[in-house]
Amino acid sequence: MKDYFKVDEWKIIEEGFDPHYNKVAESVLSLGNGRMGQRANFEEAYSGETLQGNYVAGVYYPDKTRVGWWKNGYPEYFAKVLNAANWIGIDVTLGDEPLDLAKCEVLTFRRELNMQEGYLKRSFKAKTESGKEVGVESVRFCSMVDDECGAISYTITPLNFNGEITLTPYIDGDIVNKDSNYDEKFWDEVSKATTNDGGYLQLRTKKTGFEVATATKIVLLQDNAPLEFESTPIEKEKYIGTTVKVNVGAGKSITLLKYAANLSSQNHSKEELANKATAVINRVAAKGFGTILAEQAAAWAEKWKNNDIIIEGDAKAQQGIRFNIFQLNQTYTGEDDRLNIGPKGFTGEKYGGSTYWDTEAYCVPFYLATAEQKVARNLLLYRYKQLGKAIENAKLLGFKDGAALYPMVTMDGTECHNEWEITFEEIHRNGAIAFAIYNYVRYTGDEAYLGDYGLEVLIAISRFWSQRITWSADREQYVMLGVTGPNEYENNVNNNWYTSTIAVWCMKYTLEVIDKVKQADQAKYDELAAKITFDEGTESGRFADIVAKMYFPQDEKLGIYLQQDGYLDKEQLLVTDLPATERPLVQKWSWDRILRSVFIKQADVLQGLYFFEEDYDLETIRRNYDFYEPRTVHESSLSPCVHAILAAKLGDVERAYQFYLRTSRLDIDDYNNDTEDGCHITSMAGTWMSIVEGFGGMRVKDGMLSFNPLLPDEWKALSFQIGFRGSLLNIRIAKEGTTVRNLSDNSVTVMLNGASQLIEAKGEVLMRT
Ligand code: BGC
Repeated sequence: MKDYFKVDEWKIIEEGFDPHYNKVAESVLSLGNGRMGQRANFEEAYSGETLQGNYVAGVYYPDKTRVGWWKNGYPEYFAKVLNAANWIGIDVTLGDEPLDLAKCEVLTFRRELNMQEGYLKRSFKAKTESGKEVGVESVRFCSMVDDECGAISYTITPLNFNGEITLTPYIDGDIVNKDSNYDEKFWDEVSKATTNDGGYLQLRTKKTGFEVATATKIVLLQDNAPLEFESTPIEKEKYIGTTVKVNVGAGKSITLLKYAANLSSQNHSKEELANKATAVINRVAAKGFGTILAEQAAAWAEKWKNNDIIIEGDAKAQQGIRFNIFQLNQTYTGEDDRLNIGPKGFTGEKYGGSTYWDTEAYCVPFYLATAEQKVARNLLLYRYKQLGKAIENAKLLGFKDGAALYPMVTMDGTECHNEWEITFEEIHRNGAIAFAIYNYVRYTGDEAYLGDYGLEVLIAISRFWSQRITWSADREQYVMLGVTGPNEYENNVNNNWYTSTIAVWCMKYTLEVIDKVKQADQAKYDELAAKITFDEGTESGRFADIVAKMYFPQDEKLGIYLQQDGYLDKEQLLVTDLPATERPLVQKWSWDRILRSVFIKQADVLQGLYFFEEDYDLETIRRNYDFYEPRTVHESSLSPCVHAILAAKLGDVERAYQFYLRTSRLDIDDYNNDTEDGCHITSMAGTWMSIVEGFGGMRVKDGMLSFNPLLPDEWKALSFQIGFRGSLLNIRIAKEGTTVRNLSDNSVTVMLNGASQLIEAKGEVLMRT
């Protein structure tokens, strides 16, 4: 854990420059607006360590699979969100000396992500090799209002010299993905043009044929007034630039405004892209930098109105949660049901920007409570639309009759993952997709979703389980062999408790939903059954038989569920037995040693007890928590949040607090030594859950919100807003008690510590501690 960034409730501040930490800072200080995003790279050239990253949502490349040993069933390619044209670049030359912080003495340096208003500010003073001192201040953002646009204000001041400064703002499309499997470049040029004050570059992705036109327009200002300038356009393969030379006196500043637009053929016709990008950029530039920055602040103020969580008395914890909420809102806005939430969002290449089970298991609850209902629904529809491909995917692996196996990693529904133990075995992802349907309907009450879309997905998933689960004549029970549970530090295990539990739950739920849909609309049900040739008698019969006769590993002496058969045969070490120098295990131990060890990467049995807590009594949950928690190394970012929620449920507020800090500051403090690859965006939704479901104790029961609040000693108070079925509530948990304010125009009934409370429109109730 590192203490690199300054603690501030609304900002992430890097004070002073540590080149070894640059890639971590680039990740943490990333910007995005749901449509595009970028790492906090410098505008001017930098020859030190950096990971360049500009991304356009939904634009991907199918990179041919590269594995040591090909196995039948592997997907042909891994889809990757592409590193797209770099639109932020501004080369700076002082006289004839290029400005490059790696070659300067950095006198002062500060990067600051303003989460309240949604921009990144960077300022520094540096001395070049020849002794020229220069000051720079840049402000940039990806606009939430014009979500195809970004803008930069770049001010440069010669501090101890008079002379010529050359500025070359450019768009560079000759970029690579660091994770490219064959060192290929993924973009071809379509067209380009330059003008005195900018131009555009249109690129096409190889294979997928997406086109993106990036246009820029520049304005020069001196003393806040526009400065006429002559420029020299530069055109190279996949590159355009504009060179401007200005004479500036010592202590005087010159500001370059660079507006940029990224338009993708996903949203516009290819023929019109360039013209439209130019029109958009002209429209945005005409508003002026000050105006669009003010619009940005207003758009963020609107987001924060419903999204903010306030922690009083603990600035570190406050900064952590705001950072998580900020990044989630930068990644996915829910406007477009073709998009999803990559585990790294727009902050890095790792995980290819693709969709994982993370979305359903972790992100859906956040969007359900903080955004309009259509946002979570769009996430569900994304999977509904990919059902055909999930059925194809299962077919490739030998399943039949409409069984669906959703991919572990996907962009358009096709499986992209290619490690056999995950691709073929980490099938619990199917369960999370079913659980999200249940979660959505439980939260919103939108039962019509089940007949319209949900049941079709549920039946296809249950069909998969019913074929994947087999009968053991020896046990006289059903078993599920050869799986990998959420704990990826175990592969090819038999009877992973979590996977079997979610599979059986899924079949049970499917049977319930069949009845529900039939009751609501028999004709609709009949139509669906005919469409998917569902033979209710036989297929439901098999689901029910598995539900009744499934084997679940457990240990009666310890009173716990076993993560899988044979788990207790392992040497029973605890995490406290591990020297700090051996962690993270994934970086320090051989894979073989990890697989044989008792250590658990992330919540596994506990993930199941979290999802299905209503089916288990508190003591069972406690015994399992007490057994598994000390064996868990939390080397997946998805782990601490589940532990935080369970610790809070068990009344262990101090442990819940420690887990909360770990999950919320995972990237700010680079806990797992991997933030340089990008931030852990999907686990940020888990951080939100650890506040709302953990300390707030929020659940949905019988169509009502229920709260069982708990406040860490370190906090004076905690408050958050929850949108629920058209109502908006503010919950404030303080030492003296919990206040629930109903901000809506209709009355609402909630459960507070088990007692039902009616709250009038605009009214409030206080439950004293
Ligand atoms: C976790 C998976 C997760 C993936 C993407 C892995 O490290 O083990 O559960 O889906 O990261 O976040």
